[in-house]
Amino acid sequence: MSTPRPVLVVDFGAQYAQLIARRVREAKVYSEIVPHTMPVAEMLAKNPAAIILSGGPASVYAPGAPQVDAGMFTAGVPVFGICYGFQAMAQALGGTVAHTGNREYGGTPLQARPEAGVLLKDLPADLPVWMSHGDCVTEAPAGFTVTAESAGAPVAAFEDLVGRRAGVQFHPEVGHTAHGQEMLTRFLYEIAGIEPTWTPENIIDEQVARIREQVGEKEVICGLSGGVDSAVAAALVHKAVGDQLTCVFVDHGLLRAGEAEQVEKDYVAATGIKLKVVDARDRFLGALAGVTDPEQKRKIIGREFIRVFEAAAREIAAHGDVEFLVQGTLYPDVVESGGGTGTANIKSHHNVGGLPEDLKFALVEPLRALFKDEVRTLGLQLGLPEEMVWRHPFPGPGLAIRIIGAVDEERLALLRKADLIARQELTAAGLDRDVWQFPVVLLADVRSVGVQGDGRSYGHPVVLRPVSSEDAMTADWSRLPYDVIARISTRITNEVAEVNRVVLDVTSKPPGTIEWE
Ligand code: XMP
Repeated sequence: MSTPRPVLVVDFGAQYAQLIARRVREAKVYSEIVPHTMPVAEMLAKNPAAIILSGGPASVYAPGAPQVDAGMFTAGVPVFGICYGFQAMAQALGGTVAHTGNREYGGTPLQARPEAGVLLKDLPADLPVWMSHGDCVTEAPAGFTVTAESAGAPVAAFEDLVGRRAGVQFHPEVGHTAHGQEMLTRFLYEIAGIEPTWTPENIIDEQVARIREQVGEKEVICGLSGGVDSAVAAALVHKAVGDQLTCVFVDHGLLRAGEAEQVEKDYVAATGIKLKVVDARDRFLGALAGVTDPEQKRKIIGREFIRVFEAAAREIAAHGDVEFLVQGTLYPDVVESGGGTGTANIKSHHNVGGLPEDLKFALVEPLRALFKDEVRTLGLQLGLPEEMVWRHPFPGPGLAIRIIGAVDEERLALLRKADLIARQELTAAGLDRDVWQFPVVLLADVRSVGVQGDGRSYGHPVVLRPVSSEDAMTADWSRLPYDVIARISTRITNEVAEVNRVVLDVTSKPPGTIEWE
């Protein structure tokens, strides 16, 4: 099976391109993000099924504002313009865009003419939509029918069914726009005539075929972190090449309760994968002894991890012809490292699994085109345990950075207990999927006075840090129900000796980070 023809989402530099690309995929249509600086000829060379022009921060009048090359409209490819993309499209096709002074930001009522076209067909005539614009289209280009208006936008939606083009001033991709996904779907299926074939089954089949082609008869290794990305990547490769794959799991002793077992037993049982577990707990704890500085901890863990992994890889390679290394790179990583958009939104990837160049393996990255939610769907489809697929993100350096102070066996055991209680209560309350992550932090260098049993105690505080987030770049503290917090607090102080206080972190990110360190 060949890669499907992509719907290209042209990124005009705001936050919307990734969201649009995800919404397109939710409609079971494959999408890719490209920068607006990519020449139209290059876009067309990708044989796109359609092009979507995203919103952007600029005014089409601003000096240097990105324009749309009119060549895009002569190639017969269906085009959908959103917000800035809508205005740029109108301008390129000979319509009029004006500064009217009528700004609209946020929820705005739209007056639609559902009967006038396809995009808004059968939808209510009064629709709340999400707007964010200063300029507006005052005259649609020739051949276009105007299908909606708002107080600040005389032309708020238009379409030209013959030319298979449409556009909207508002943002159909955000949840605040009623029926937004339906509009996007209408464009894809009814105006552009695309079939919804991007399904988990098809993705698996396609990736399996690709991996087989890439790897041939050679041996492959994969480092498992316990996280969902590497687990799904390895499961896909295993489906493709079976026992040519060996996985390595380094137990650095900084994991949470039950995690090593989850990989060693449940994952292997679900997949039948060949797994080499390296018990490196003593080595890591030895190297970390007495170290309190978080950066120092990270460096030590990174260094030891690479040494252990390399040694394991060499051992495996000694028995065969290992040429490939599997990595669970996701599409947002590719986009953010400049592989997709060229925008300046670079996230620093502080993975402990960052392996040295001189390992000299070719990379197999079967998740490079996928978003996290798609990876989870694939994981379930591949039969991985639910607890693994829905696992919250967990930092590579593990509990070492959730102990503020030096790391030792005793403190790790203590934090593991507190962390397990928090997780158990969150799960019991049915709230696992309502929080992005729930770090529990031990302030090992702080003591305070309390009263426990019959006497005075002098113990450590534990911090609860439940957060909600879309992508970990920003986050807010989760408003968990007080009775859940109360149960966690009571259980921790009752069941974990040495802890006599539980506090809740109510800081957003920024200014805080998710982890404490
Ligand atoms: P911060 O604390 O910077 O964390 O707000 C953002 C996200 O990254 C995770 N994190 C890591 N993940 N290796 C990882 O794989 C690391 O070294 C690391 N440090 C932080 C953190 O848990 C949160 O999801």
